[in-house]
Amino acid sequence: MEVIIQRDYEQMSKTAAQIVAEVLNTKPNAVLGMATGSTPLGLYQELVRLHKEAQLDFSRVTTFNLDEYVGLPVNHPQSYHYFMHEHFFQHVNIPRHNINIPSGTTSNYPAFCQWYEERIAECGGIDLQILGIGSDGHIAFNEPGSSLSSRTRLKTLSKQTIDDNARFFEHREGVPVYAITMGVGTILDARKLVLVASGKAKAKAIAQAVEGPVTSMVTASAIQLHRDAIVIADKEAAADLTMRDYYEFIYAAKPAAPKS
Ligand code: PGA
Repeated sequence: MEVIIQRDYEQMSKTAAQIVAEVLNTKPNAVLGMATGSTPLGLYQELVRLHKEAQLDFSRVTTFNLDEYVGLPVNHPQSYHYFMHEHFFQHVNIPRHNINIPSGTTSNYPAFCQWYEERIAECGGIDLQILGIGSDGHIAFNEPGSSLSSRTRLKTLSKQTIDDNARFFEHREGVPVYAITMGVGTILDARKLVLVASGKAKAKAIAQAVEGPVTSMVTASAIQLHRDAIVIADKEAAADLTMRDYYEFIYAAKPAAPKS
């Protein structure tokens, strides 16, 4: 695993965007796995800037989002469909039919989940999966206790996640209790993982994910099993890592490392 510690949120976002851009430059028809939440917002802003100012082309890109709340229609301001359209898709040139987001309103969840897995496989698998991390250590909505070989399925949100996400809703009661989410096994099948984390509320989860034991109680720790996983954390999110100096030494010594 590569751990990149950046001085702040802006540098974290730019470094992550640079990695996405490198994948697209090498493979213009790449399949990208997208994440929602407040953390990847800066990464999306930077990708939009690269699209507008540096002709980063998304016209052959296919995307798969990690998750969606169950019960929210696509035009609900807190749905992940809405989020992705607002913050990313409407600003770049990904063909609409290449965008895949789990349905939060299907009448048959098991069938939809199976279809989603098959669709990923048909598209050749995910080349690069963007990830955030929950304060409970989740990736996507794989809450503590999720099988590390789980596939796309319905999941009940943890109390911690509902509390964390209540800030986006008018009332805590408005936060959906269920989500449809790619599984940990689905995520581990991606060819490259980039996990972004910012702020001190994520420090414990990052330390557990990167340096703790691999455990279903911290599903982000499963990325330790991946051959090409990059964690990009700002200083606050990296604060509890015991090997911080070592990661910084490696990154500083890397010849082609993006610096800004
Ligand atoms: P956040 O969510 O970026 O809004 O903190 C991250 C996550 O839960 O994966």
